[in-house]
Amino acid sequence: MKVLVTGGTGYIGSHVVVKLLLAGHEPIIIDNLSNSEKTVLDRIFEISGTRPIFYEGDVRDVDFLEDVFEQEPDIVGIIHFAAFKAVGESVKEPLKYYDNNIDGILTVLEVSQRHNVENFVFSSSATVYGNPDKNPIPETALVKSSTNPYGETKAIAEKILKALVVSGANIKTIALRYFNPIGAHPSGLIGELPKGAPENLVPYITQTAIGIRDMLFVFGDDYNTIDGTGVRDYIHVEDLADAHIKTLDFLQKNKNKSFYDVYNVGTGNGTSVMELIKTFEKISGVTIPFEIAKRRSGDIASCYADATKIKRDMNWESKKTIEEALEDSWRWQQNYLK
Ligand code: NAD
Ligand code: WQD
Repeated sequence: MKVLVTGGTGYIGSHVVVKLLLAGHEPIIIDNLSNSEKTVLDRIFEISGTRPIFYEGDVRDVDFLEDVFEQEPDIVGIIHFAAFKAVGESVKEPLKYYDNNIDGILTVLEVSQRHNVENFVFSSSATVYGNPDKNPIPETALVKSSTNPYGETKAIAEKILKALVVSGANIKTIALRYFNPIGAHPSGLIGELPKGAPENLVPYITQTAIGIRDMLFVFGDDYNTIDGTGVRDYIHVEDLADAHIKTLDFLQKNKNKSFYDVYNVGTGNGTSVMELIKTFEKISGVTIPFEIAKRRSGDIASCYADATKIKRDMNWESKKTIEEALEDSWRWQQNYLK
């Protein structure tokens, strides 16, 4: 199947492209390289033995997209990753986030509708649950108003997809709500490329371990959790990538002409910040200097998935452990992020 992968040289996109190639699909990547590098294409080739087709450009550019669809007439599905994703930056530069993340999905949908693409997978986020009323969080939980523009763009994008389907458009769509993706490809050839100081915990840990950062700040130890630190559902990016392949298969087999649904993609287990630090120290043999700091604004105590729906409907479940994910993140940090 020919699949358009927007944001396909990014962290999650690159892992999905590898899985698509290995599963015999034909990924067509679009990326403007605003948060990734062209060398990722060489790395994908090294891992998979195939060089994916790549178009450098912006998903908000209608003419560029039209051109891609003209050159690639048989696109059957789209996985839309292209977006900005830094929560803190979105608070400081909201217009940049609304512009890229909303105009991006609108333009991709508008052009792909003209070209009759029937399958659409959207990268959403557990952030749409805000501070959940209970854990594990089922898909039926309320989508709450987010404390940051990034989260709002995900909730709005979900509404756009739903409205398009309600309008009777000939499109089958699934929003995958990722929990906390971590890890890298076991080869150490592709992984996350944080720009500047990372906002996310795992890249901050690996950068501290290698000496780029002096110490890790643990944002609060007075939450109502196992040890007072924040609890999250950390999912290996390889497992997350597999979920996309299953989702595409599921969409293709679905006989409805118009369809919208949401699925959590998580492990179903919560891990605290302190548990993650201790596990990292065990697998790497490196002690992480850390200090307890005040809570980060907008953070919540716990967030982990009820992952039963995706298991029931698509027979997907996470397979890799936190240890494996941290080993892979550490290998990636040591090999490529010095
Ligand atoms: P990433 O930044 O590594 O990848 C996104 C890619 O999209 C980058 O290669 C970037 O250059 C490209 N891009 C951005 N705007 C573009 C545009 N206008 N036109 C063309 N290309 C553009 O991020 P990621 O971690 O791989 O995330 C992928 C998707 O998953 C995003 O939509 C993100 O919001 C979502 N998501 C990520 C996480 C996470 O923690 N990483 C969690 C939940 C959801
Ligand atoms: C995890 C835990 C922090 C850094 C974010 C987005 C979410 C999704 C995934 C895109 C929390 C603690 C962190 C540090 C720390 N992204 N922490 N010191 O906040 O769960 O989710 O990324 O969609 O939308 O909000 O992930 O990795 O930032 O934090 O103590 O230096 O680690 O307080 O408990 P988060 P995170």
